[in-house]
Amino acid sequence: MSSHSEIVASANGVSRIFRSKTGEVRALDNVSFTLSKGKTLALVGESGSGKTTAARILLGLDNPNSGIVEILGRVLGSLKHEEMRLLRREIQVVQQDPFSQLNRRHSVERIVSGPLMAFGVGDKESRRTQVIALLEAVGLEKEHLKRRPHELSGGQCQRVAIARALALDPKIVVLDEAVSALDVSVRAQVLNLLRKLQQERGLTYLFITHDLGVAHYMADEIAVMFRGRIVERGSREDVFENSRHHYTVGLLSSVPLATPTLSKAIRDQVQSLPSPGEGDACLYRTRCTVGLTREDCKSTSLVITQGTSTHSWLCHSPVQDSIPA
Ligand SMILES: Nc1ncnc2c1ncn2[C@@H]1O[C@H](COP(=O)(O)OP(=O)(O)O)[C@@H](O)[C@H]1O
Ligand SMILES: [Mg+2]
Repeated sequence: MSSHSEIVASANGVSRIFRSKTGEVRALDNVSFTLSKGKTLALVGESGSGKTTAARILLGLDNPNSGIVEILGRVLGSLKHEEMRLLRREIQVVQQDPFSQLNRRHSVERIVSGPLMAFGVGDKESRRTQVIALLEAVGLEKEHLKRRPHELSGGQCQRVAIARALALDPKIVVLDEAVSALDVSVRAQVLNLLRKLQQERGLTYLFITHDLGVAHYMADEIAVMFRGRIVERGSREDVFENSRHHYTVGLLSSVPLATPTLSKAIRDQVQSLPSPGEGDACLYRTRCTVGLTREDCKSTSLVITQGTSTHSWLCHSPVQDSIPA
């Protein structure tokens, strides 16, 4: 977002609709973001808001219905098979579940050397040397080479997954709830490891989490997602200290985000609202104390408001407009 930073990946107006017999889900609706070299963008939002779908599209594992995704200056979907294969080296992923993302029948050595083998890097001996160096980089040791996932703790499995993600020396790493399954103390260790690796290797992170505390610790920039849309985006300070979207404020205040107690008149209004996903009106309005009563929130298409060069939001009546300075 800063004009001085080098952009290594971007999503521009990306939409992804899943269709089924019972209807359609807009998993992503006109989503745009950029990743700056050596920085962390945190994608935050509750379960089902579209975070993993965004990650999968960035990783080239799924295709958008519309919009453009660029990785290192290449437009996904326009690449020949071999170009796409080479680009895959540059963007790797660590997922949430420490155990299920690793092949339980494989040793740590086999798991971490997997990407090297897939790209025909080195021979068995040189790969072993590389794997040992990678294990050391993530705080594991040579003695872990022969272990299998079930002989490791959750934190150690995540370290193995990180070592595997780094094997091909990628520029970008997608961390999809990568610490969410870990105990608090282990989580802190893995977060510190990720920060250290980022500094040493100049890595760019897309850091996906539903945990704002973790996002605050890790992120340079934050994009808040709600039901397939980025509702607020900005620097960490913008989003945490100058929140404009009511959903962001709700997340931050850690007040349960259930619908507040409603008067009967408002309840009737809520029931008459169009079903979510129709049109471009605000999808948060039925949970928003402001949106429930304002006509434009249910009838008028949202547009992105650019508050500052780094800070934008998707709301007709943002927080603080109503607070006297
Ligand atoms: N392959 C799929 N088929 C149908 N619906 C899907 C698929 N993947 C995701 N969805 C739906 O898209 C929405 C966003 O999912 P997801 O990206 O996994 O959210 P998050 O990672 O934020 O929890 C959800 O409603 C989910 O049920
Ligand atoms: Mg997810």
